Amino acid sequence: MPEVIVTTREGEVHRLGIESGMTLMETIRSAGIDELVALCGGCCSCATCHVYVDPSFAGNISQMSEDESDLLDSSEHRTGTSRLSCQIELTAALDGLMATIAPED
Ligand code: FES
Repeated sequence: MPEVIVTTREGEVHRLGIESGMTLMETIRSAGIDELVALCGGCCSCATCHVYVDPSFAGNISQMSEDESDLLDSSEHRTGTSRLSCQIELTAALDGLMATIAPED
């Protein structure tokens, strides 16, 4: 089964199976990792689902929208690998994707 590898703020590593059609945020929340708050439920309006994504997968992930980029600008922890996990739809092509939950703002 394809999986993603998610590291929490405390450095715990979780290997999570991918269900096609789910977002990375939904996959993390479904695994019970609730430090990823995802306050708006995936509507791209809160930025509490901020993660850092392994740049080697950048070519396989959907492009960042202007709305997503604007929201990430509100985070003082934005880096070049920042994404909102609710905006990343998972497919088998993302098997092995590594993401780290960003610090809380
Ligand atoms: S869950 Fe709110 S922006 Fe992603």
